[in-house]
Amino acid sequence: MGKIDILKIARIAQEQKKINPSIIDATIGMFYNDERKLIIPMVEEAFHQLNVFETFKYGATDGGKIFEDNVISWVLDEKLELLKEKYLITGLSTPGGSGALSLIFNSYGKPGEKVLVSDLRWRYDYFIKSAKMDVHEHRLFLNGAFDLVDLEKQLTMLSKNQKRIIFVLNDPCHNPTGYQLTDFEWMGLIDVLNKFSQNEIILAYDIAYFDYNPLGFKEARKPFEYLLKLKSHVQVLICFSASKSFAIYGVRLGGLIGLHPTEEGYKYFKKFVVDDALGKWSTAPSVGVGIFNALSTKKDQYIEELNKLTYTLKVRGDIFVEEAKNAQLNIYPYSGGFFVLVHSKDPERDYELLVQKGIYLIPMETGLRIAICGITTNEVYGLAAKIKKIIGESND
Ligand SMILES: Cc1ncc(COP(=O)(O)O)c(C=O)c1O
Repeated sequence: MGKIDILKIARIAQEQKKINPSIIDATIGMFYNDERKLIIPMVEEAFHQLNVFETFKYGATDGGKIFEDNVISWVLDEKLELLKEKYLITGLSTPGGSGALSLIFNSYGKPGEKVLVSDLRWRYDYFIKSAKMDVHEHRLFLNGAFDLVDLEKQLTMLSKNQKRIIFVLNDPCHNPTGYQLTDFEWMGLIDVLNKFSQNEIILAYDIAYFDYNPLGFKEARKPFEYLLKLKSHVQVLICFSASKSFAIYGVRLGGLIGLHPTEEGYKYFKKFVVDDALGKWSTAPSVGVGIFNALSTKKDQYIEELNKLTYTLKVRGDIFVEEAKNAQLNIYPYSGGFFVLVHSKDPERDYELLVQKGIYLIPMETGLRIAICGITTNEVYGLAAKIKKIIGESND
């Protein structure tokens, strides 16, 4: 899936839906509520109350001290104090989670070297290629669970050829499957990473959808505790997406948060990562920084809003998973989030077949991604059975 142009397919679907409202457009990762509204009223209010002078003048490359404190506190929340005991912590504004990922590959990767990614993944390939690096895949699943054995195998292979290994982990609400690591798998993952102490590991921890974790805002932050068990050859760089958490996709705001076990790692971030941002976009858009800073002062109230969205998504996910089971539609393991991935032996063909019946999904290498975030709960009803009927044996 690495290089599919999702935005292009989504545009076609959006055009078609304007002509025919009965079309199912489950292409893109944007959350719409059941009234088909994308904008969250509290966010809109914060936008309208922005100070125009502060917004129009140049901002700081790192987003400024207030943003840095706010983004660290938003993401790490109650785990911050614990993490501070082990790590020096940095924060930086970026244009979306995309910007954060791009900084990691450019600042920590070497041209010609490889980045470890799962076989099922979002389009990290674009950022990796633009840093003149290549991808190296590990298998995500074995028998419906995270394949730690293959992860270790692929790390072992890479560790022989390069000193530093960037490993991308997208959890929870994995894109495109909706998978979520169990506590047991987290523990296993930490053990695997700790074994490679002759190497330097950069854990690029992509938490784009973590604020939609069906377990809730506080529980979503539990894995940060596991990070305390990492040895000092592992540095964690957390990619936060305000696009998702605040439904401000086009505003382009995200953040990169570094957990540095050593002073050297901390200084490197402050110098080279900030320089890389300066060399790429100078500053992240002040509109997003302003909205985020304003909402950070109303965090508890905003979390209540977020809970409503997460609940809607959970209802949609539950319906789809249940109906998929009844219709014998084969899906990858789903625990929550924006997407469900349906098995397909011929995704390109199935994509075309579905389009003919007015259902727009995203074809990937071994499946079809359904953005349940973008369709209403009513549209979810019956969808699994329809898909099964159309793609048939390709799904077996
Ligand atoms: C897995 C994943 N990571 C990161 C992002 C980055 O999103 P943005 O750059 O809009 O914050 C996305 C967006 O779709 C995503 O699906």
